[in-house]
This record gives sequence, structure tokens and C-alpha cells, in this order.
Amino acid sequence: MIELVPMSSALVNDAAKLLSATWQEPHPTGCRAVVSDVAVAEQRVEAALANPSVAAVHNGRLIGYLAAPPPRPPGQAVAIKAAMHATEPRQRRDIYRRLYAQLAGDLTKIGGFTHTIAVNSSDRTTVDTWFELGFGIDQVRGVQPLRRSEGATKGSTGIHVREARADDLDEMTDLAIEVTRFHAESPMLRPALSDHGFTRGQFVTAMESVWSLVVVADLGYRLGGFFQVNPDSHFVDTATIGIAGVASGDRHQGVGTAIVDFALDWASTSGYRFCAVEWTSPNLTSDRFWRGRGFEPLQYKLTRRIDPRVAWAHSGISYDHIRPLDL
Ligand SMILES: CC(C)(COP(=O)(O)OP(=O)(O)OC[C@H]1O[C@@H](n2cnc3c(N)ncnc32)[C@H](O)[C@@H]1OP(=O)(O)O)[C@@H](O)C(=O)NCCC(=O)NCCS
Repeated sequence: MIELVPMSSALVNDAAKLLSATWQEPHPTGCRAVVSDVAVAEQRVEAALANPSVAAVHNGRLIGYLAAPPPRPPGQAVAIKAAMHATEPRQRRDIYRRLYAQLAGDLTKIGGFTHTIAVNSSDRTTVDTWFELGFGIDQVRGVQPLRRSEGATKGSTGIHVREARADDLDEMTDLAIEVTRFHAESPMLRPALSDHGFTRGQFVTAMESVWSLVVVADLGYRLGGFFQVNPDSHFVDTATIGIAGVASGDRHQGVGTAIVDFALDWASTSGYRFCAVEWTSPNLTSDRFWRGRGFEPLQYKLTRRIDPRVAWAHSGISYDHIRPLDL
């Protein structure tokens, strides 16, 4: 019989083995998750234990675990990272369903009505299991292997791509806010909660870091687009493209492709073997763009949105006092 118990330090090593096994198979591109190494998986599981968590045990043996960070600040999405869950392959569907049932209700009691979970996109059973729990694909993380840099792509389109400078910050921030507004359009329909100061600060941090690249397409009289590239903390030898955008009037003229070429070249020269990028699945423009530039799905971020009315229309509600109104 499967028993649900609180996760504990004593279970960390077994949990790390489950996590590592989940990501053992390299992606068809050859890209590996850092947690495929049990020692790294152990550190990540240990960190996950700072959150509410539950373990599934069968005959005293750990067969699955799930940790879910409380919404911070209250009302925000609950983001279950890839290292915060794993099960053994047998009975995967059943184990995940029990683990989630144990935590989901508690999350809604503290304002967690949006739940996201990062899963290996090659693991069909896990993906289908979460679909059956009401989740859908929200974000896609794609990856491609890097070829050895030949330095030939830079400037080959006639679009001048270069590293960002401090005097680009105002324009880059405006472009980043434009990208946020673009994501508020249909069918992405993501609220455009723009914060100039925060966005600008993110660029400053990346530009000051020796590990990151902020790159712009300089059209001479203004900037046509920008990409940010950072080391990926989840995948081995991987650089990841973060926030990226091209000004609406300059799209479909090769600006994005020129910046991608520059970024891939930089990543290859910097010693990375893979480049990843995350995009919003319902974003028709970027889904087509990134797949067309050779990025193949590696990880999905699945999301479930729970109707917040369950906070008052919960199982304890009584309609007795309003029955005469025939509601
Ligand atoms: C996604 C995005 C970065 C792509 O940038 P872009 O400058 O439009 O990209 P390109 O012009 O290089 O390529 C886009 C398309 O135009 C085509 N194209 C390029 N030059 C062209 C030209 N001169 N004439 C006609 N078509 C052209 C490309 O072949 C490509 O087609 P495809 O998608 O069918 O492969 C940009 O559209 C954008 O910022 N979108 C809104 C915000 C967003 O989604 N950002 C990404 C977040 S992850």
C-alpha cells in the first residue's frame, strides 16, 4: 500500500536517485540536465525541502516526492521546479495523483490558485499525468546543440549586432516593456505588469556580469531589438536566451535571426555546447520563430489555474439559509 508521509532529510538521498533517474536519458540533442548527476540532484532536493513537501512510501521504500513553494507574495503562482518532484517509473500516474492531491488543497488556502510545474518534455507519462490533473502547456524550453563558431554570421545580414552599452539602457527598457505588452495580446493574454525600474535593473545586472551577454541590433538611428543570454543553471554546458524582443515595426526583416546568430556564436565561443530558450506556448510568433531557428522542446512548464471562488464556495459551504430563494 502507498503511504503518504512528510518529506524528511532521511529521504533526501533516495529522492535524489529518483530525480536523477527521471533526467538520466539525455535529450536527443545530447543536452543533459544537471540533476542527472545524483550528487547535484541531492543538493537540489535538499534545497526543495525548505518548502511544504510530501513523500510517497511503499513498504518503507521511497517511490515519489513532491515539494511546492507557497505563493510568494501571497496570491502569486506556485512554481514547482523540476527538482521538486520525481517518482519511480512504475505507477507514476497513481503516485503523482496522490502527492498532488495532498498538497493542492493547502496551496489554495494560502492564495495559491495558479500552479505551475516544470517537467521533462520527453517523459510522456509524466506530461500526460499532469494533463489529467488539469494542467496544460504554458511555457516551452527549447534547446539546440551548438556548432563550432566560424564567426561568419556576424554582420552577414547587414544588420549591425553588437553588445549593449550603458547608453542603450533606456531604449532596451522600452523595448522590453513593448515585449510585455505584446504578451498581453491574444492568444497569450498575459497581464502586462510592466515595471521600468525592475526591468532596467535586470539589464544592468546582466551587463555587469562576466557570465552574461546583452546584445542589441543597432539600426543606426535606434535599436531594432535585444536579447539577453545567461548561463543555464538547470542544463549542463548550456547558455540560455532570456528576455528577447524585436521592435514591432522591425519584425520579419531578419533582425531576430541576426541576433540569434550572434548569440549562438557568442555561446559557442564561450565554451557552451548547447543553447536554450523559453517561450510562451500560445505565442504563435515566437513558437514559429524559435522552432524555425532549430530549438527543440526540452522541458515544459505546465500550468493549472484554479477558480478562486473555491475559497468561499468550498466543501464546507451551506446553501440552507438561501434555499427559499431557490438558488
Ligand atoms: C520573435 C521575434 C524575436 C522574432 O524577431 P524577428 O526580427 O521578427 O525575426 P526574423 O525577422 O529574423 O524572422 C521572423 C520571420 O520573418 C522572416 N523574414 C526574415 N527576413 C525577412 C524578409 N526580409 N522578408 C520577409 N520575411 C523575412 C523569417 O524567415 C522568419 O520567418 P519564420 O518565422 O517563418 O521562420 C520577434 O517577432 C518578437 O520580438 N516578437 C514579439 C515578442 C516576442 O514574442 N518575443 C520573444 C519572446 S520569447
